[in-house]
Amino acid sequence: QEPELSRLFELADKIRKIAKSKDGLDFLQTILSHKRAVLYFAQPSTRTYLSFNNACQILGIQTSDMRSSGYSSEVKGESLEDTLETMHSYTDMIIMRHVEENIAEKAAWMFNESEKPIPVINAGSGPHEHPTQALLDAYTLHRAFKGKVKNKVIAVIGDIKRGRAVRSLIYMLSNFEGIKFVFLSPPELGLPDDLRQFLGKNSISFEESDNLDKLLRRADVFYYTRIQDEYDKQHESKSIDYSRFWLKKEHLSHMKSEAVILHPLPRRNEIPPEIDGDKRAWYWKQEVNGLWMRAAIIAHVFKEDGYILNYK
Ligand code: NCD
Repeated sequence: QEPELSRLFELADKIRKIAKSKDGLDFLQTILSHKRAVLYFAQPSTRTYLSFNNACQILGIQTSDMRSSGYSSEVKGESLEDTLETMHSYTDMIIMRHVEENIAEKAAWMFNESEKPIPVINAGSGPHEHPTQALLDAYTLHRAFKGKVKNKVIAVIGDIKRGRAVRSLIYMLSNFEGIKFVFLSPPELGLPDDLRQFLGKNSISFEESDNLDKLLRRADVFYYTRIQDEYDKQHESKSIDYSRFWLKKEHLSHMKSEAVILHPLPRRNEIPPEIDGDKRAWYWKQEVNGLWMRAAIIAHVFKEDGYILNYK
């Protein structure tokens, strides 16, 4: 496992611990009180937006929001590049969710050439990537398995084709030794070619399956996702039957006692709320982990790791 990943896990744990007391929170709030950030979310978001905003507040960063390109001058015909340039003029960091692939990287590249390079964090780019989700997912597995994430069988269930959380999770977990993926999806939403090639090239073992029952006893992790129908061209998902993969209460007795059920959320019907109380249901803890991991990412980006880790 990458040393940088271990460092982020350690930092997230430390920030979480420090934040438990008023003195600790007061300390955290001094760390980046000289910085401002803009949260530019041009696609819907609840968790990612709130956890980033609260992570900024915990570290003392002042934030402003643009929660839709509909409220920005893009509706007046301004280019996305010019909009980003304006955010760059006013702030020290951009956290952005946008449908366009690679736009966060492009913005970072653009600002690196300027007199004021500022960090840009990708908080979800269309159906392509969601790197901070993958970090909080890995952090959750690190906590659930007490640091022993290698050699696990990871079932990924749902919209494998268009799920950005899924794509980033695959890239992320390829950092851990001996991981095996099993993909379960309706055939229309199966593993896309580029991911198949990525897995092949990196010699990561994977299977595709159509049978949840067979997997129940075998998988260590059940990573559920919803159908990403906002990317439908003509409501084609309406005719797709996903229900045979949904988790049911009666499945729990067949699962390993140490299994971990994850979901980036929002959920629809793939996991019923009656499962929430089971000790293997980790998705609400996963959401909480998102706050601490995002605080760690921001602190790391501003090179404050050492200062925080030394706090007594
Ligand atoms: C995910 C996303 O936006 O990609 N949600 C999230 O960030 N927690 C998953 C989804 O929307 O299905």
